[in-house]
Amino acid sequence: MTAPQRDPILSVRDLSLTFRGENGGLHVLDGINFEVCPQDFCCVLGPSGSGKSTLLRVLAGLLRPTAGEVAFCGSAEKPRIGLVFQQANLMPWRTALENITLPLELQGVPLEEARSRAREMIQLMGLEGFENTWPRDLSGGMAQRVAIARAFIQQPDLLLLDEPFGSLDALTRERMGAELLQIWQERQITVIMVTHSISEALLLSDRVLVFTPRPARITLDLEVDLPRPRSEDLRYTARFGELSRRLRAAIQES
Ligand SMILES: Nc1ncnc2c1ncn2[C@@H]1O[C@H](COP(=O)(O)OP(=O)(O)O)[C@@H](O)[C@H]1O
Ligand SMILES: [Mg+2]
Repeated sequence: MTAPQRDPILSVRDLSLTFRGENGGLHVLDGINFEVCPQDFCCVLGPSGSGKSTLLRVLAGLLRPTAGEVAFCGSAEKPRIGLVFQQANLMPWRTALENITLPLELQGVPLEEARSRAREMIQLMGLEGFENTWPRDLSGGMAQRVAIARAFIQQPDLLLLDEPFGSLDALTRERMGAELLQIWQERQITVIMVTHSISEALLLSDRVLVFTPRPARITLDLEVDLPRPRSEDLRYTARFGELSRRLRAAIQES
């Protein structure tokens, strides 16, 4: 739950982005403002092509905004950021375990320590027995777990998830959502996740930002006051229905 008087970890102010090109380029983000507090789980919903992935790339420092700023505050001034995409993007020549150790190896962490921390992640993600499996032999859900473990192992201050379950079937998706919640609770990390599923956003997050079609503005910033821990059964409650309707209306009106 979002408590009052907490200092934000991330503050996005008047953020705009235009991709250069003919006819003045493509205006994608238009005056985006929001703050995220430590350990918040925040979802971004919006039509396809509105600029959600672009926002995550700006937050990750991969794209420079045309105007406005992204400020990380407090202990996270030089934040470690984990990024997970819709496709797992694993290295095919590395086993599951070796994919998870990779970020630590790149940081110069000794291999034995990297492996031991990766084994911890393997357990946390329910990947026991798949340590030495090649990416091509993993199911979509397993591969995505490896990708999440790889992002998690760096103990990111901010975890950015771009439709991480988008390529999975509905049941795997529900299970992965529940697992992600559990890890988020255990590890107390801050998450911003793009999804196009209203119910996924409500089941997971403290807060949902709804984007208009491009150029994206935030048309609704909704606090999700559903009790935790959450389970799929929440879907059948009146409050869930009410919040769903508000999100759907915001998406349709924008
Ligand atoms: N590097 C780029 N150069 C030019 N246009 C881009 C680039 N990346 C994305 N776009 C365009 O910006 C718009 C928003 O893209 P994106 O952020 O991926 O949308 P979403 O994730 O909401 O579906 C789209 O029209 C896309 O084609
Ligand atoms: Mg996208």
